[in-house]
Amino acid sequence: MATFRERFPRNRRDVVLAIDAQFRRLRKAIYRGPVREAGHRLFFTELVEATDNFGQITWLGRPIWQNVLDLWTIQETLYELRPALLIETGTNRGGSSFFFAQLFDLMDHGRVITSDVERLHDLHHPRVEYLIGSSTSPEVIGHVRSAVAQADGPVLVILDSDHNARHVTNELELYAPLVTPGSYIIVQDGSIDTLRLFRVGRPGPLPAIRDFLARHPEFDSDRTKEKRFVISHSPEGWLRRRPDTSTDKGVSGSLDSVRDSTAR
Ligand SMILES: C[S@@+](CC[C@H](N)C(=O)[O-])C[C@H]1O[C@@H](n2cnc3c(N)ncnc32)[C@H](O)[C@@H]1O
Repeated sequence: MATFRERFPRNRRDVVLAIDAQFRRLRKAIYRGPVREAGHRLFFTELVEATDNFGQITWLGRPIWQNVLDLWTIQETLYELRPALLIETGTNRGGSSFFFAQLFDLMDHGRVITSDVERLHDLHHPRVEYLIGSSTSPEVIGHVRSAVAQADGPVLVILDSDHNARHVTNELELYAPLVTPGSYIIVQDGSIDTLRLFRVGRPGPLPAIRDFLARHPEFDSDRTKEKRFVISHSPEGWLRRRPDTSTDKGVSGSLDSVRDSTAR
């Protein structure tokens, strides 16, 4: 079979390559800015509709209510960070805490504490402690703080309970002080505020995240995490405690400052 070189004399081949390069540049120019954003939104909407917003996803047969792309980014982060303790709010049917615990099994390291207002599963795992109660209740937060005080290594938090802005603000104020320097508090489902499909849930996590960041310079939003697989349920939601900040292991976190700042 004739090669590309043989089929096209040198000057003709150069013309073809030049046209091809122009087309690629043009495609890039068109697929930039608002067009690109619209493309992502269309795909994201289709993905949410096709998967019933990831409501039927399973991990080894157990229901897990997570965007699988985000879940992979979390998996990569857990491996890099090797948390001694992962705190999750919003257990639901237990799939996510079970998934994290099994990753920790493979890493031979790490524990999970997860809370929910009700028990919706019958799962057990030696690395997981299941708490029943609101994530912002004194009982739950007191228990979590004791676990943090005993944690011998990084602490990472995932907020996946009530996504209402006020509740997320309260959770951020209580749980962010527990995060160790260089680790994350991941605020999930900010997509409520960006995807039209979810607009009934507004105001969701995004205004709470922005308000929190404005008041807490010790955290910044690691945008590389949400862009890892182009679309994410956690826009602006990967809040990283700056490595050079100190933590008092969360004993001083209280809702008083939140009440002051949200009583508008
Ligand atoms: C999105 S689901 C969590 C999904 C779960 N993390 C997973 O990936 O499979 C949200 C859960 O938060 C719980 N929830 C709602 N309000 C809460 C609160 N104040 N404290 C703790 N959990 C709450 C709900 O009962 C529900 O099960």
